[in-house]
Amino acid sequence: MRRYEGRVVVDDVSLEVQPGQVTCLLGPSGCGKSTTLRMIAGVEMQDEGEIWVDGNLVCDTVFRIPPERRNIGLMFQDFALFPHLRVGENVAFGLSGDKAEKDKRIGELLERVGLEGYAAKFPHELSGGEQQRVALARALAPRPRIMLMDEPFSGLDNRLRDGIRDETLEVLREADTAVLLVTHEPEEAMRMADNIALMRHGRIVQQGAPYNIFNAPADRDAVAFFSDVNVVRAEVSGALAQTPFGQFLAPGIADGQSVDIVVRPQHVKIDFDRNGVGPSPTISDGTAVRGVVERARFMGSESLVEFRMEHDQSIFKATVPAVFLPKQGTPLWLMIRRDKCFLFEVE
Ligand SMILES: Nc1ncnc2c1ncn2[C@@H]1O[C@H](COP(=O)(O)OP(=O)(O)OP(=O)(O)O)[C@@H](O)[C@H]1O
Ligand SMILES: [Mg+2]
Repeated sequence: MRRYEGRVVVDDVSLEVQPGQVTCLLGPSGCGKSTTLRMIAGVEMQDEGEIWVDGNLVCDTVFRIPPERRNIGLMFQDFALFPHLRVGENVAFGLSGDKAEKDKRIGELLERVGLEGYAAKFPHELSGGEQQRVALARALAPRPRIMLMDEPFSGLDNRLRDGIRDETLEVLREADTAVLLVTHEPEEAMRMADNIALMRHGRIVQQGAPYNIFNAPADRDAVAFFSDVNVVRAEVSGALAQTPFGQFLAPGIADGQSVDIVVRPQHVKIDFDRNGVGPSPTISDGTAVRGVVERARFMGSESLVEFRMEHDQSIFKATVPAVFLPKQGTPLWLMIRRDKCFLFEVE
């Protein structure tokens, strides 16, 4: 736990990272990701709680091993290399031992990150991506058990980033390092993580494999963090939520309780209007509801269509294959795929 000026910014966070695995700390700006990382690194002290590495207590509120003795590597967004030191000297910065040993290790590391023969260059002679790889080599040099990375790829352009990101993780996996990577981008987390810890307002709201976080989200905001969402508010009666889209199963939820049925745009089905008549209700898709196209945006492989629903004037979003780009004002019928929606109690 960590307070700033009396305000709790990280609370009750419990995280475990495993060798050779990547855990992503994912959450919106200001939720406490960097603060969490700084406490683990030891550059900042927690107000409550303990940090352990390989079964050894590293830090509690009384006892504290200094950052440089924690066997933890750091790679932050502003990974600044020392501009006046050559690449080799940058990599060797945290190393002890004699010159021959150091040179050997520098050579190994530069080869590992694909920069053989760069040892005598200065940082300003390298591209952004090459500098990033030097920073990685420097962070790896003392053989850390844990690598903490705070949005280390955000300064790179997209194309370069994908490559460097994958290479970096490969190097870290090979070295069997436990990686804790901070990001606020869900796509990045899904692509890289073995495990995602979803953070909000200083707390971890859900933890698990990307597939589980995406397909079994803990709450409405967890759905919304990964994609656009549609929400239908309903009241439960007899373990069923009644909505214009039909009834939804609400097992174990009390009568009179409000619930949100949350569905992603890609799980909204649409059908044509046949002179004011839509498709018949089915078990899997429920009852169709009529909406009028308000806006349709072409997005490459698919289009995002926004509907104004006739029954309550709310906006509903659906993605459709891009071969289909309906005109504004077109009436269509919308259905919710039962097996893909989520139902959450409203507090
Ligand atoms: N040194 C500090 N003094 C006071 N408040 C701070 C300090 N550092 C961070 N905070 C506050 O603590 C909260 C969490 O900050 P933190 O940097 O951990 O967020 P973050 O999740 O890393 O966000 P981002 O994605 O924008 O980097 C924020 O509200 C921030 O304003
Ligand atoms: Mg941050």
